[in-house]
Amino acid sequence: MSSVLVLNGPNLNLLGTRQPEVYGTTTLADVQVLCEAEAARLGLMTTFMQSNHEGALIDAIHGARGTHDALILNAGAYTHTSIALMDAIASVELPLVEVHLSNIHARESFRHTSYIAPVAIGQICGFGAYGYVMALQALKHRMAS
Ligand code: DQA
Repeated sequence: MSSVLVLNGPNLNLLGTRQPEVYGTTTLADVQVLCEAEAARLGLMTTFMQSNHEGALIDAIHGARGTHDALILNAGAYTHTSIALMDAIASVELPLVEVHLSNIHARESFRHTSYIAPVAIGQICGFGAYGYVMALQALKHRMAS
């Protein structure tokens, strides 16, 4: 059974109460439940993690090699700043789907740049928590083909 590491970056622990007009009222625990249900339906295993620390996210990406088959990453604001995360993803050579709850392209211009996108299979944004479900489906499809 393939294993997917679902990684969440800074401030996503506050989902549900953080700017609900932008991110909705779904909590990160709700997102985890959604992911686990969809993974079970697709026959995938998931490990769910959140950190506010760039280095911890990098360590988790390094640790995924040999442990997981693919990654889903919502890097939060590090999306727009972190060459280190981009390098870590390129180094482990695992398929990764970039997810954002909001449509980053419809927001401030500094959110239009993603350092994750060049090293991701693809990007899903603007669909709220359902984006994680779509990312699992995309990975299942990719790993089956
Ligand atoms: C986000 C979008 C980022 O621009 C922002 O910094 C976040 C959340 C999203 O899921 O929409 O923290 O990644």
